[in-house]
Amino acid sequence: MRRPIIAGNWKMYKDMDEAVQLANEIKRGAYRIDNVEIILCPPFTNISEISEMTVESNIGLGGQNCHWEKEGAYTGEISVAMLKSVGCRYVIIGHSERRKYFLETDEIVGRKVNAAIAGGLVPIMCVGETLEEREAGKTLEVVKTQVTGGLKGLSADYLDKLIIAYEPVWAIGTGKTATPAQAQEVHAMIRKLLKELYSEEFSYSRRILYGGSVKPDNVLELMKEDDIDGGLIGGASLKADGFVDMIKITSSLYAEKGE
Ligand code: PGA
Repeated sequence: MRRPIIAGNWKMYKDMDEAVQLANEIKRGAYRIDNVEIILCPPFTNISEISEMTVESNIGLGGQNCHWEKEGAYTGEISVAMLKSVGCRYVIIGHSERRKYFLETDEIVGRKVNAAIAGGLVPIMCVGETLEEREAGKTLEVVKTQVTGGLKGLSADYLDKLIIAYEPVWAIGTGKTATPAQAQEVHAMIRKLLKELYSEEFSYSRRILYGGSVKPDNVLELMKEDDIDGGLIGGASLKADGFVDMIKITSSLYAEKGE
């Protein structure tokens, strides 16, 4: 069985004091849960401090973005090695907000995925369609193009830790969640595509997270779906109680499933 992931994407929220408090509360609340991979992706400025607080805990840390070059004159950017040096093990790549506001293309996403793996981080590659694309019946086509484009030229062995997050743009921060069936349909398509691109084994072992207005009251139904292996959670990850609830709900579900 694939090990589930509950990841919090804090986006551009939380100054140092707030971040430390939130991380502390999550750490306390999720203490002893060992059948869910817990990931926090705070703003860059808070990672180092949270990293010290979470050493040897069940919490892993990730960046929200990285550059594809190892280093260089790229004002305002952050490298994979920098993230690693403050304790990150993961990095979110190609989030729809990066695609929309910072014009990241599939080609850029691909370069970042490559750089992350080369530098020893686990990429969480995000894909998802806009409302217009969904209404035009193009969801599967768009997601397929994003997955194929982001992974172009990379082998199954190289991608053996890759995590994918399906996040329909119309569900992010809007309060509108995809129904479990809508999410499952796209997750199953991604898994089928991975089988075609790589192999059955690669596809079966990939973790595919759902993101987009995941909350304590809808997480269970989403996580019950066969091809949904966890959540990438924005707004609802900013409150410790709710985030810990989602970790516990997922943990209990997988305990029942025999994980
Ligand atoms: P949301 O964000 O949970 O606030 O919809 C999810 C995300 O953007 O990763």
